[in-house]
Amino acid sequence: MSLEKILAWIPPGSPDEALARQVNFDQLPAHVAIIMDGNGRWAAQRHLPRVEGHRAGIDSVRDVVETSARLGIGVLTLYAFSVENWKRPKAEVAMLMMLLKRYIRLELGTLLKNNIRFRVIGRTDDLSPDVQHELEIGIRKTEHNTGMLFNIALNYGGRAEIVDAARRAIASGMAPADLDEAKFGEFLYTSGQPDPDLLIRTSGEMRVSNFLLWQIAYAEIWVADTLWPDFRRRDLLGAVLDYQKRDRRYGGIKPSPVALGAK
Ligand code: IPE
Ligand code: IPE
Ligand code: MG
Repeated sequence: MSLEKILAWIPPGSPDEALARQVNFDQLPAHVAIIMDGNGRWAAQRHLPRVEGHRAGIDSVRDVVETSARLGIGVLTLYAFSVENWKRPKAEVAMLMMLLKRYIRLELGTLLKNNIRFRVIGRTDDLSPDVQHELEIGIRKTEHNTGMLFNIALNYGGRAEIVDAARRAIASGMAPADLDEAKFGEFLYTSGQPDPDLLIRTSGEMRVSNFLLWQIAYAEIWVADTLWPDFRRRDLLGAVLDYQKRDRRYGGIKPSPVALGAK
């Protein structure tokens, strides 16, 4: 999980190598969250059915997961299916679920090889039993891995998550006066995980579409025009490099050179 790890995987002399060498490994985002968008438009541009865009998007997932793990990013969360996505045609939903099952089955080896721990966030109880079964296998077989935590957000909604957390908080019997932001965070699906430092959205849309509403309070947002099936290692490296130039103030002020005692 370092420059060597990532360079071992990049063709020498490629533009990706130059990007990787610029990364400051002491200042990596602890958590990167990605809204993978634009599969349908990618397919439409090629006069293909929408599902072909989803199929092509799997290659991007593969590339981004391995790049993130090799870089040494602690947590990667990919938004794969929202609670609102059930509004889509039945055949498209069925295809998305089928691709997901296949992805887990085919990628398990890569996840294990890269010491990645796989998790799912969302209302998974509402998914079909065969999908739940496949997810459970992926979670169980990778649960002892100690490297990157890889969350897939499935049947996920940010508001649904907050409602679920509120229900859990109430059910715990906690006194209302004892509830604060940190404690509330422990009832979220992402309990114990750092909040995203970097939120990426592809396909140029400037919205968060109900993703990690609580957790992205101070995330740095990076929107790429690239459609998800075209998103690759170099795009992720570009986003990380841009993130590393940001000035994060959290509502405070940037310490001026004068305040720091410079002349
Ligand atoms: C993202 O691509 C994949 C999912 C939401 C599952 P879309 O299917 O939303 O593609 P566009 O936005 O219609 O191009
Ligand atoms: C967001 O994409 C959801 C996922 C990436 C899973 P959508 O395509 O569903 O979002 P909207 O409809 O453009 O907001
Ligand atoms: Mg979309």
